[in-house]
Amino acid sequence: MANFIESETAQRITTIRINRPDKKNALTDEMYYGLADALRAANADPATRVIVLTGTGDSYTAGNDIGSFVAQSNASKEDNARKPDGRDRHPVPDLLDALISVDKPTIAAVNGLAIGIGTTMLFHIDLVYASESARFAMPFVNLGVVPEAGTSLLLPRAVGRQRAAELFLFGDQFGPETAHECGFVNAILPADRLMPHVLEVAGKLAQKAPGAIRETKKLMRQHGPALDAAMHREARVFAAQLRTPESKEAMRAFAERRAPDFSAFE
Ligand code: COA
Repeated sequence: MANFIESETAQRITTIRINRPDKKNALTDEMYYGLADALRAANADPATRVIVLTGTGDSYTAGNDIGSFVAQSNASKEDNARKPDGRDRHPVPDLLDALISVDKPTIAAVNGLAIGIGTTMLFHIDLVYASESARFAMPFVNLGVVPEAGTSLLLPRAVGRQRAAELFLFGDQFGPETAHECGFVNAILPADRLMPHVLEVAGKLAQKAPGAIRETKKLMRQHGPALDAAMHREARVFAAQLRTPESKEAMRAFAERRAPDFSAFE
């Protein structure tokens, strides 16, 4: 498959791989659409019972491509409002919609860095296994933006206000043990055991009654309207923040490989 997203099916398990290792699997707009398309295709394919998501090299994904953020922050509001031909949604909401709508079991094999949406997408995946070398972060504030994917609602509900504030407001990297304590990683594996373990678990799920799995997943979608509302709110604030001088400074700092200087902002 084009645009750095690979998908292959064997023994009723479809493995979707983010494959842009020289950029730590950072996601461009085309890659979000590629991932969403791959998820919808696997969900519709009778040959697939379980969907596994992973990344090539030392990263799961380093999150949104910073270059795309810069392009959005410099584009006019009208240009940003326009969706690409044939698409109903912008790239990030399209991926989230695809993930949330999948009615087959989804499993993430977090093989390394899971930054930004690399972490937040995990809140919409059924089972998450992480290698010992996995590193998570939600550095939105450090980029002058705000959390997305419904995590402003889901994370405090899962771990409590103070723990969520710590992860969001500092935006530091944390290891798989913390992610496990927070409840969004099922188990931590040595790097060489990660994929074998995930494929073993996926193989077990592939034997289960698909109808009961489908219905169970539907029943677990308990946050419904509150989640939709949170995601809409986040998207609106995120887009507005992206245009602020503090966010532009953060993006410039990343490109210049220096720490951002927020001292001039109120
Ligand atoms: N967008 C675009 N490019 C990215 C990227 C991203 N999110 N993350 C990494 N890259 C690129 C780097 O620019 C670099 O490219 P280059 O070799 O052409 O200079 C390459 O991937 C390797 O990254 P590097 O920073 O050299 O690796 P590292 O191991 O020192 O650090 C990260 C890895 C992921 C910690 C660091 O790159 C980082 O902080 N990236 C930004 C993550 C982020 O903020 N994502 C958005 C969240 S909302």
